[in-house]
Amino acid sequence: MNQAEIFIQQKLAQRKLDDNFRVLKTASGLIDFCSNDYLGFARSEKLKALVQEELRRFPDYLNGSGGSRLLSGNITFVEELEQQIANFHEAEAGLIFNSGYDANLGLFASLPQRGDTIITDELIHACIIDGARLSLANRFSFRHNDLNDLEKKLKNAKGICYVVVESVYSMDGDEAPLQEIINLTSQYNANLIVDEAHATGVFGQGLVQQLQLENQVFARTVTFGKALGSHGAIVLGSKNFRDYLINFARSFIYTTAPSFYQLVTIKMAYQLLQNITTEQNHLHKLITLFKNEMQKKYHYALIESNSAIQSILVPGNSNAKKLAEHLQKNGFDVRAILSPTVLAGMERLRICIHAFNTEAEITELTATINH
Ligand SMILES: Cc1ncc(COP(=O)(O)O)c(C=O)c1O
Repeated sequence: MNQAEIFIQQKLAQRKLDDNFRVLKTASGLIDFCSNDYLGFARSEKLKALVQEELRRFPDYLNGSGGSRLLSGNITFVEELEQQIANFHEAEAGLIFNSGYDANLGLFASLPQRGDTIITDELIHACIIDGARLSLANRFSFRHNDLNDLEKKLKNAKGICYVVVESVYSMDGDEAPLQEIINLTSQYNANLIVDEAHATGVFGQGLVQQLQLENQVFARTVTFGKALGSHGAIVLGSKNFRDYLINFARSFIYTTAPSFYQLVTIKMAYQLLQNITTEQNHLHKLITLFKNEMQKKYHYALIESNSAIQSILVPGNSNAKKLAEHLQKNGFDVRAILSPTVLAGMERLRICIHAFNTEAEITELTATINH
């Protein structure tokens, strides 16, 4: 057998041995407690109708963009949309990327230079790590949400310093202490970059705005694939920073621009987001109900979180998988998050609560978890 095939077989065999072999599954038809569709926009008939209506205003639209933004793929619609989204988030400017992964990859690979420093929370998303790895800057991480550890790292930072956090962490669902972090970044003259992927739509327009900190962060990444129910992302910052990304962010420069259909979906999702207080209130009511129900029984430890992401620790890949299978058999689409995606010993069920879930679904789910 060819050496590459042998290598592949060995790596896959190891995965199976570690009980963390990844397989693609199609949507199950079970009650959704695993997607990031927190507000139900991905399945919203209202959003579909808004998109169709908007598309009819542009009968000549192209199915595909035909090229990168710097060549044939740029249109007035996308530039206007970027400014509208920037205004919505109270930022000076914004640049749309094809995904949150692309946005963070482009940002962190292009901005920090050799001799600069990137300091990230230890639980930061893989795309930020990957972007930072592509840069030539020094990289450090600090213990999750630990301000003392962050300060230690800030004291040793060289060059221009960037501190990167998620306002809501994707696997634990807890929040970064943004105000306290900003106190430190301003004391040490560092630039704070916040990924709002799991906060936008769940906590108003995002946690940065909810805390009125928009003028104190250097940049934000907002993704459209979670509460906005679409796909893509925007990096928000100054007009100069937008120009910088257009010139240096390779994941923006060397890729085909999003299709018109995608842009319209994003635009209409933002329109829908202006009027969803009822859904947001219902979502937070369900989150509280879930936490209360889980606290009544102490079979499992719940990671403290007020967001739509509620993680139940079930240490060990096979234990986590077994509990997920038990829930699936009982009609709930809950997935296990295994190591190495999370640290060994921190395997879990990552339960996502949505505005379209019902109180009865929550109580049945918690009763089945704690059967
Ligand atoms: C915190 C965070 N940032 C970025 C991303 C990537 O976004 P996208 O799914 O749009 O590529 C994700 C999603 O997986 C995420 O959780």
